[in-house]
Formats: sequence, structure tokens, C-alpha cells
Amino acid sequence: MPQIPNMPSLEKRFDVSIAGEINLDLILYGLAEEIPVEREVLATDFRCTLGGSSSIVAHNLASLGASVGFSTRLGKDELGRIALERMAESGADLSEVVYAGDATSTGVTVLLHHGAQRRILTYPGTMSGMSRADLNFDYLASAKHFHLSSLFLQKALAPDLPALFRDLKHAGLTISLDTNDDPDNVWDGVLHELLECVDLLLPNAEEACRIARRDTVEEALVALSSRVPCIAAKCGPAGALLQIGDNLSRIPPIRVTPVDTIGAGDSFDAGFLYGYVRGADPLDCATAGNITGALSTLRSGGTEAFRDAEFRESFLRKHHFPFSNREHDYSSLSELSQF
Ligand SMILES: Nc1ncnc2c1ncn2[C@@H]1O[C@H](COP(=O)(O)OP(=O)(O)OP(=O)(O)O)[C@@H](O)[C@H]1O
Ligand SMILES: [Mg+2]
Repeated sequence: MPQIPNMPSLEKRFDVSIAGEINLDLILYGLAEEIPVEREVLATDFRCTLGGSSSIVAHNLASLGASVGFSTRLGKDELGRIALERMAESGADLSEVVYAGDATSTGVTVLLHHGAQRRILTYPGTMSGMSRADLNFDYLASAKHFHLSSLFLQKALAPDLPALFRDLKHAGLTISLDTNDDPDNVWDGVLHELLECVDLLLPNAEEACRIARRDTVEEALVALSSRVPCIAAKCGPAGALLQIGDNLSRIPPIRVTPVDTIGAGDSFDAGFLYGYVRGADPLDCATAGNITGALSTLRSGGTEAFRDAEFRESFLRKHHFPFSNREHDYSSLSELSQF
């Protein structure tokens, strides 16, 4: 297996800087697929969790013990305050969070669960107005690595992203991108310009096909491999694919019975990045991603399984998370039997 080109540099304040959205996920379970209008429809369960792909990656990466600087733009409202409090618990640095000057609300996502399927309704709120003027470049550049999630939600920032990526590369950072879905299903804009600066692409299989405009994930990975040095494609319960140059590896999944799969992809990113910024073997990074992705599915939303330190560390140990000597090594905790 070839090593990842463009390894991150050492001696920086943060392992990873992330700029992106933060919001709460309001999750309703047990709804019928057909939802009539003008009727009171009852869910069987409800959870309110820290959501937003960028904030889930930042929260979970910090929970694993990486040092993370998280930049975001909030509204001055209760939902924003609660989301930020949840994020602060992870240990991520929030010193560069800014507030919108107008009355725009912090974004929110409502997830309606219908058995294995779900509807995802998002109000982007203050995030779609975040521009480069809201970001402190020196702060972003004080990390080994920069990660961007939810490209197509970063409406105001998007035109400035190619220059920002180039400037961060010149400052010696490596860069990862998880586009997540394009709500407009166009898969264009600055995306292809950004790929020229990306060291690590983290799509799911469907997104890889749409980005590369190919029918199968294998074809998409070959097409993208000439442009991006390392691509980890997330394949849900089938695990992940890792493409480095001409080399394709299949990383088998961890077998779990999910509560829900919200944020599993973001949690995969967190596990992968934890190893990546330490210069680990990419196969180990992808194995770590499968473990943290699976962990995420065992509790509601994308962050709950990471908030419970004993639950998290027991699962990581049970499944041989490949990176030891972590800052949060709870090796004295008892094994939990329910996995
Ligand atoms: N049912 C499952 N069983 C085991 N592992 C899973 C399951 N679902 C997800 N995972 C793990 O989580 C990773 C990411 O999941 P998925 O492919 O759903 O990402 P995604 O579509 O990007 O998710 P997101 O909705 O967070 O954007 C998978 O690669 C796998 O490692
Ligand atoms: Mg995803």
C-alpha cells in the first residue's frame, strides 16, 4: 500500500481546523411514511442532539482526543446557545465563533424517521451567510490540517473557498473535503476547482458517483484518483472503500444494530482524520473510520455515542481502534457487555 502523499506538517496549535455549520438535530422517530396535512401526527420518540456535519466532525474528533479549532457563525438565539454548549463539552476550541449581526436564526434540522428511511428538513440559517470575512485566516492556518464539510450549504463562503484552500495549502496545511449531499443535485460550482487542492476526499458512495459523474463507485474512484491523492468512500453497512492512486482497498464494516445512522459519515470522517493527522497508514485510518462510524449508529444522532466517554471508549477498545496512546485513553474502564 503506498503512503498518503502530502503528509500534514507537525508543530501546529491544532491538529485540525474546521469552518462550518453548527445546529441542533430535532429527531422524531416512528412516523408513518405518509404524513397527512392538517392532522396531529404523533411520533413514538424524540431526541434533540448536536447536529450539522461540520460540528459533528469537530465534536467527535475532539472527543477522540484530537485538538480541534472550530469556526462557525451563530444567531443570538436559544438553539444556537445550546448547540454551542454541547460543542464546548467536546473540548473543541471555540474562540473564533462569530455571531450574525442581524436577526437571522441559527440553522436547525428536523429529521423524520420512517423505519429505515428518513426525511431531512434543514433551515440553514446563519451558516449560509458565513463568508471569508467571518473567518480568521491565521487561526485556521494554525492547524496541521483543514477540514470542510457540507460544501453546498456554505453559500456565502463558496466563492472564496478556492482562494482559501490555496492559501491554506501555501501555509502548509493538508485539506480534506466531505461535500455531503448537494440539495440542488447539480454537483458543480467551485467543487472541481477545490478538488485540485484536496488531499483527502470523504464522500459516501452515492456522492462519489455524482461528483465523478460515473455509474458505479469503483468507476468514480478511478476517475477521481488522478485528481485527489486519497479518497475514502463510505458505503453504509458495507463499510468503506479506500482509493490511493491505482490501489483500491475494501475495508469491512463493524457489525452493529443501529438506532439511527444520522452522522455516521461525519463520525467516519472523525475517526479517519484522527489517524490521518498523526501520519498513520491510510488503511488504519479507514479502519478507524469504520469503527467510529459504527459507534455513531448506536445512539441517537451523530454525537450522542461520543458524549458518553465510558460507552465510547469501551466500544473503541472492543473493536481494536488502531490508535493507542490517545489523550482520552480510558484503559481502566470496564468492558461493556452489550456490543
Ligand atoms: N448499518 C451500519 N453498520 C455498520 N457500520 C455502518 C452502518 N451504517 C454506517 N456505518 C459506518 O459509518 C460509515 C458512514 O456511513 P454512511 O455510508 O451512511 O455515510 P454518509 O452517507 O456520509 O452518512 P451521513 O448521513 O452522516 O452523511 C460507513 O462507512 C460505515 O463505516
Ligand atoms: Mg455524509
